Amino acid sequence: MSFLIVEKEVRPGVALIRLNRPESLNALNRALVGELTETLLSLDKEDSVRAIVITGNERAFAAGADIKEMANDGVVDMLLLDQFQRWDQIKRLKKPLIAAVSGYALGGGCELAMLCDIIIASETAQFGQPEIKIGVIPGAGGTQRLTRAIGKSRAMEYILTGRFFSAKQAEAWGLVSRVVPVELYLEEALNLAAEIAAMPPIAVQLAKQAVNKAYELSLEEGLHFERRNFYLLFATEDQKEGMRAFMEKRPPQWKGK
Ligand code: HXC
Repeated sequence: MSFLIVEKEVRPGVALIRLNRPESLNALNRALVGELTETLLSLDKEDSVRAIVITGNERAFAAGADIKEMANDGVVDMLLLDQFQRWDQIKRLKKPLIAAVSGYALGGGCELAMLCDIIIASETAQFGQPEIKIGVIPGAGGTQRLTRAIGKSRAMEYILTGRFFSAKQAEAWGLVSRVVPVELYLEEALNLAAEIAAMPPIAVQLAKQAVNKAYELSLEEGLHFERRNFYLLFATEDQKEGMRAFMEKRPPQWKGK
């Protein structure tokens, strides 16, 4: 049984993954997370895929990890399953990932959206880390990524109460790039993905790497990393082509080399 609908070339170079477990508000059971990770790893290796959009449906992006599935687990089950290595694999993907979020993005659903590089939200989106209400805490990055995105005081408030926050709040606090009407959120995300997919792919990959380092390194180390990636791009044919095309006043033809 598949919990995803995968479509390639929804726009040139763009693959779309729809989480498809609507009866459970796309609760992220282990099979779904496994399938999602395998699909992403495989799309990441395909040259024709330049950007990936992950979405749910209008009612829910994902309402979190599957509570029913983990309710009776013990710590040894958790350790042996080591589900979070899946999340680490997603974090290491090279291609840009865009989350198109409508409805609930809660718990692991909010964490999945935050694992993506860009979040586009429908005005109906609701974000939250409500794990505290079921006796646990965020486990797939929520305490770290939400805090870095919206600041300590707000992250504490929302993680300690489990309250939800709106798309407008998420936008004002910098968690999401843009909030659009519900009829447009997927369209908007796909168009953005297509715009990125039309850029030179090695530069996109090295830019993504460098921006992500801003979360992990000191400013000094981050600047060093950025500079190394900048220099590296001068070994690509696309750098020569991009600069030549500018001077010749014509559109560039990217080779991905
Ligand atoms: C399993 C879930 C689920 C979940 C919803 N459902 N969320 N099943 N795990 N996380 C199921 C419901 O049981 C129900 O199934 C159906 O989806 C519809 O949900 P309702 O509750 O009837 O809908 P509604 O009244 O509209 O309320 C929506 C809701 C609520 C506010 C989103 O469902 C809710 O609070 N869900 C749990 C949110 C949550 O706590 N998420 C964090 C999980 S922990 P039936 O069969 O009864 O009709 C987590 C840890 C992350 O994510 C760790 C890393 C992965």
